[in-house]
Amino acid sequence: MSYFLSPKVLFGKGSLKRLGTEMEGKGSRAVLITDKTMVRHTDRLVETVKKAGFLVKIWDGAEQDPSIDVALAGSRVLLDFEPQWVIGFGGGSAIDTAKAAWVLYERPELEGKPILPKVELNLRKKARFLSVPTTSGTGADVTWVAVLTDTVNQQKQIFAHNDIVPDLSVLDAELTMGMPKELTASTGIDVLGHAVDGYTSKQQTDFSDGLCLQAMKMVFEWLPKACRDGSDLMAREKMQNAATIAGLGFGNSNTGLSHALAHSAGALYHIPHGRAVGIALPYSLEYISSTPPSPKAPDPVERLVTAAKFVGIDAGSDQDRIQRFIEKIRDLEREIGEPLSLKEAAITENQMNEGMDTLVHLANKDPNMFTTPCECKGENLRQLFRDMWKGV
Ligand SMILES: NC(=O)c1ccc[n+]([C@@H]2O[C@H](COP(=O)([O-])OP(=O)(O)OC[C@H]3O[C@@H](n4cnc5c(N)ncnc54)[C@H](O)[C@@H]3O)[C@@H](O)[C@H]2O)c1
Ligand SMILES: [Fe+2]
Repeated sequence: MSYFLSPKVLFGKGSLKRLGTEMEGKGSRAVLITDKTMVRHTDRLVETVKKAGFLVKIWDGAEQDPSIDVALAGSRVLLDFEPQWVIGFGGGSAIDTAKAAWVLYERPELEGKPILPKVELNLRKKARFLSVPTTSGTGADVTWVAVLTDTVNQQKQIFAHNDIVPDLSVLDAELTMGMPKELTASTGIDVLGHAVDGYTSKQQTDFSDGLCLQAMKMVFEWLPKACRDGSDLMAREKMQNAATIAGLGFGNSNTGLSHALAHSAGALYHIPHGRAVGIALPYSLEYISSTPPSPKAPDPVERLVTAAKFVGIDAGSDQDRIQRFIEKIRDLEREIGEPLSLKEAAITENQMNEGMDTLVHLANKDPNMFTTPCECKGENLRQLFRDMWKGV
């Protein structure tokens, strides 16, 4: 890609208060889309938006791994209330629900049609989009995609378009303080998956590289601290920044193999997104570093050696460094209590064998396969799923 997409990102102390100034004079009605857990934490945000002169309607119908139907229900609320701002408040699921609802509010005639980069969208005729993330994981607050689940075909469906990049993202670390350790860990590993996939992607650029490298370093340093002590505000803030930095990185280069494998395993076995990415990541890196790259793709060996050096692995042959980088990821996952295999994530051998054809089918179709730096299909793909199940 030869452009860089980003919303305005408000971060650091007082970010929520500064939001009022951004919104003032830009409308009179706002709809906040969230879920039934996070609706209890909307007070401070709602107060700020009201002070900026808005009537605020809250819709808490978002669900984890949102379906297209849920987004459609959200769009009907928007069509009814006619806001000038749509606010996605919560984890990636709530933000993606809000993004998709916003698209269908602006363009209701697109219901049931694929939302892909070449469609003429022309959003913002009715409303702007604000995201307020409460997990430190997906980077959905700054990316150009919304991941929905097609419940009929049991697969993730992606709304992807440059217009979907939010106008504003507000980072307030206090909103992430209530995350239990398990959620902190699984969403935090997603950040690492974004950074490493984004750095090794076929579509990496000088711009995305810097963001991805910085996010990797921050996750290794701050995720264990955030998991050990959830009340450590500095660790929370660093992880929230890392998630958005990785979001800006992969949002401009796309993710790759670990995400293709994770989307397929996550959709079939209902494993939380970040956890599925964490399981897939080490195997995907072993695969790309031992397979010849596709034409015009960056060399995964060179990429992973540079990443390894950047996070402090500064001795050994290229393959040694890559192995130690992968081990560093596994050590982090052990430290924060994340499973290293599908077996450890309670998927039985039977479920694995019975699901294999579906896993391969879904992964083959996943858009992240196009940005993976080497080809991965057929028996290679099956073997990767077998390895992901069995573990090291
Ligand atoms: N749009 C993108 O760029 C993008 C990128 C990666 C993943 N995704 C998608 O995002 C979704 C995953 O999002 P996620 O990992 O943020 O989790 P999530 O949004 O699914 O949330 C998981 C659970 O955590 C709760 N939660 C959220 N914030 C909390 C807090 N501060 N304290 C306590 N509980 C809290 C939610 O209510 C929910 O029950 C998946 O559907 C995935 O496919 C989107
Ligand atoms: Fe992800």
